[in-house]
Amino acid sequence: MASVEGSYQDGAWNMQLLTDALHWGMMLGLETHVLDQSGIDLLSSTDVYAEMNSTMRSRMKSLLKLPHGEGEFTWYPLYVEGQEIGELHVRPLEKLGLIPGRQEMFRKRGREFLLISFLIAGGGALFLSLLITNYLSKPIRRLTDSAEMIARGDFSVHVQPVHRKYRDEIDRLTEAFNYMVEALRREDALRKHLTSNVAHELRTPLTVIKGSLEAMEDGILSDSPAAIRSISAEIERIISLIEGIEDITSAEASFFRKGTREELNLREFVETVAEGMRSIIVEKNLYLNVEGPPLTVKTYPDKLHIIVKNLLSNSYKFTDAGGITVRWDRTGRGPDEGFSITVEDTGRGMDQAELSLIFDRFYKGDHSDGKGLGLAIVKELSEVIGGKMQVDSVQGRGTKFTISF
Ligand SMILES: Nc1ncnc2c1ncn2[C@@H]1O[C@H](COP(=O)(O)OP(=O)(O)OP(=O)(O)O)[C@@H](O)[C@H]1O
Ligand SMILES: [Mg+2]
Repeated sequence: MASVEGSYQDGAWNMQLLTDALHWGMMLGLETHVLDQSGIDLLSSTDVYAEMNSTMRSRMKSLLKLPHGEGEFTWYPLYVEGQEIGELHVRPLEKLGLIPGRQEMFRKRGREFLLISFLIAGGGALFLSLLITNYLSKPIRRLTDSAEMIARGDFSVHVQPVHRKYRDEIDRLTEAFNYMVEALRREDALRKHLTSNVAHELRTPLTVIKGSLEAMEDGILSDSPAAIRSISAEIERIISLIEGIEDITSAEASFFRKGTREELNLREFVETVAEGMRSIIVEKNLYLNVEGPPLTVKTYPDKLHIIVKNLLSNSYKFTDAGGITVRWDRTGRGPDEGFSITVEDTGRGMDQAELSLIFDRFYKGDHSDGKGLGLAIVKELSEVIGGKMQVDSVQGRGTKFTISF
């Protein structure tokens, strides 16, 4: 009403402004027409509608039923500065239900949007989960395959860890698995070795004992103290063999129980081991030298003790003139520096053929009254504590064993 009154300016109607006012009225959902003071029709919304361009008209038509409204007109007098200038007649235009249609479209689009988002998110999650499953299951599948190979008795398997730089749970599992395979392989080899060797080693003394006893039974051999002594000596051999088996088994087992790494003054250590044998060495008219720089190292004393003692006892056994030198030295720098221990003798020495056998279990030379286990134990133990063995020997001149850590 105010904008209709506003289009009366300087005592006359501005028709352009009035057209705008009625246009606004239509947009508010009202059919209007305006009469002047004398009751003559000035303008109606039907006139405004007729003058609209086609785009505007179709937009209007989609919102309202045009051009006529429903029911009776209500009219209002129009005033400007207290003077009556005409009348405004108004009735509502019927609103068309196209807004709900749009709502429906909006809802449909919303549903489509939700569906698409769901598909994208779901697909992404599925893809990721497949990726992770594959990433996790691949190494586990490799472990499973290897475990099946082991179950079939093949201990040669080794599974590569997935990562080298940063280790995850799977890599730790793989390492533990490899360690387990290695342990099983050693166990298996040890079992095979022991059963064949033990059977062979036991047969000789038992055959001798059985032969002697049968001879006594038949009266061929008298049960003289000498005969009984020889049987007793064979039994002694069996007992010492069993002790030897215990030694080698515990050396093998030390693969699983390394013990503790301790700081060690090498001079004190070597002297202690050597002192234990000095008297019998001197008794044999041999010399025993112990030499090396002041040196503290980190190692496994129990295992090193067995290693040095075995080498010393071999040198003692297989040397008749001259003597034995135990030497140690540093082979690197820094607090964790490497070191080496050498046991050298001027004994009978060995040829190439014998050198290739000496680390085998139960191998012993013709002159030996031992079990042939000492060097097998030495080799096993030095591997366990990270040492490398080297032998130099000249027949008739002497032998030198060096272990580098
Ligand atoms: N220093 C050495 N000089 C010459 N021969 C050696 C020396 N050390 C070892 N051998 C040879 O190697 C063989 C194997 O040595 P190993 O220590 O394994 O057995 P062993 O000394 O005969 O018996 P065990 O050590 O079980 O009492 C010996 O029997 C010997 O023939
Ligand atoms: Mg020996």
